[in-house]
Amino acid sequence: MSFQVEFKGEKAVPIKEGQTILEASLAAGIPHYHACGGKGLCTTCRIMVLKGEEQLSPLTSYERTIKKVRDFPDNVRLACQAYVKGEGLQVQRLIRDETDRYIFINNKEESNIRVIGEQRKLALFFIDIRSFTPFIESHLPFDVIHIMRRVFALFRNAIAQYQGEIIDTAGDGLYAVFGLNTTIKKATEGAVLAGLKILEDIKIFNNTYMRPYFKHTFEVGIGVHVGQVVVGNVGIGLSNNLTVMGYPVNIAARLQASTKELNNSFVISERAYKLLKNPPYSHGCAHLQLKGVSNSYEVQLIGKPYETIPKYTRPKIT
Ligand code: FES
Repeated sequence: MSFQVEFKGEKAVPIKEGQTILEASLAAGIPHYHACGGKGLCTTCRIMVLKGEEQLSPLTSYERTIKKVRDFPDNVRLACQAYVKGEGLQVQRLIRDETDRYIFINNKEESNIRVIGEQRKLALFFIDIRSFTPFIESHLPFDVIHIMRRVFALFRNAIAQYQGEIIDTAGDGLYAVFGLNTTIKKATEGAVLAGLKILEDIKIFNNTYMRPYFKHTFEVGIGVHVGQVVVGNVGIGLSNNLTVMGYPVNIAARLQASTKELNNSFVISERAYKLLKNPPYSHGCAHLQLKGVSNSYEVQLIGKPYETIPKYTRPKIT
């Protein structure tokens, strides 16, 4: 059996029994935003029911959860969760201004079925070069670029060796993920092995290259965490690069930043550490109160104390 749903200001759309409102609107060519791919995990497909509410299927558990969190009124539904039982339904899409339209359509025909991301559990890896600013200040710009390339080649090789993927570079650091094609346990092991390899490679690089030729040595800070993130392309920038976003990414970045105050070059969250089959030796654990994060985080220190960085006020390490 099939019915019609009227999208106010747009068109009347045929809908079959067993088809969600989102599926019907997309099939009819409406650029209906659906960031999570119709899984009930975002709110971008939401519609306001103007008439015929009694023709809709009951709320799904996803809708109940989202309504609770976002406090939506009763006549707001997720189009990807709602089915239609009869005639007389009139709805209005709620996310549909010109900017949304541009992001969504982006002049590509296939874009109206495009999903911007999927949820994945990944190991998140942040690394930053310490003591790079003094090096820049005291060396010629072309030398700085040359050395930077050498150091980033070390990072890249180690990350690739353990199946990691670099997501972004910024200044003297980068951000990578592990686990795009593997389990979270293997991903965490990969992230830790890549980090330990980089620590070892930097030591060799300092002894064989930096100290003799540039009278300088580098140290790095590494932070690793695991968590559920959204992997996709949010369409920021000119290229179609992979983007990985989510709260655990911020935590991983903060762990990396905490390496200074903890005076240890490799800080891993307890949650990630527990996933390791053969965890490396830990110099102790600490409870970190991270800026902007309400819970304190238990972390393990699996790197080395810094040699050249002044000692900061340190939290209690047990
Ligand atoms: S598309 Fe994400 S909740 Fe419907």
